[in-house]
Amino acid sequence: MSIPHCFLALSFLLLFSCHLLNGLEDTEFGHAIDRKLLGLKRKEKLSHFKFYWHDIVGGRNPTSVAVVPPTLKLNTTTAFGLVNMIDNPLTLGPELSSKLVGKAQGFYASASQSEIDLLMAMNFAFSEGKYNGSTITILGRNCVFNKVREMPVIGGSGLFRFARGYAEARTHWFNLKSGDATVEYNVYVMHY
Ligand SMILES: *[C@@H]1O[C@H](CO)[C@@H](O)[C@H](O)[C@H]1NC(C)=O
Ligand SMILES: *[C@@H]1O[C@H](CO)[C@@H](O)[C@H](O)[C@H]1NC(C)=O
Repeated sequence: MSIPHCFLALSFLLLFSCHLLNGLEDTEFGHAIDRKLLGLKRKEKLSHFKFYWHDIVGGRNPTSVAVVPPTLKLNTTTAFGLVNMIDNPLTLGPELSSKLVGKAQGFYASASQSEIDLLMAMNFAFSEGKYNGSTITILGRNCVFNKVREMPVIGGSGLFRFARGYAEARTHWFNLKSGDATVEYNVYVMHY
């Protein structure tokens, strides 16, 4: 069989097995339901959120704490292996004293041996208005010295059930001495 034929045959086989699986989808622990049962009759909407994320590592009341030190076995200047647990304030304006809209809870970890490149795993836990108690979950790559870093929104809770989208991070301010940083986040999220 030629390669295109082979590919076609494989596609049919895959399609066919998908149909087989669909036929078997009703089990004791899983079955299809009407989306209206979850109040999903409305169309998905797109929302934009803008706030500032404060990484406070210095001073008496840090919100970002190193819980795993960088690995000493490797000679890198990228702090490879470092893990910081965060409970960072999210504010409306760039000043820490401006209105608090939520917290970014989770961790970031240094994931590159050749540049400063973080794995971000965090929930934006909102505490303001109708979003109080709802969360947006981010999991992505953050090359902190790039002007704009894009990270996926991989889900959410409350008003953000079934959420998907992305966040753009731009460093607003960075204190080389203390290590504190303020980062502007623009989050674009599809949700019901
Ligand atoms: C790390 O690398 C630098 C530059 O290659 C070198 O000067 C330094 O001695 C190394 N440090 C260790 C602990 O190996
Ligand atoms: C958010 O919800 C919590 C728990 O229900 C409540 O204690 C708090 O006052 C609410 N905050 C705002 C700003 O509405």
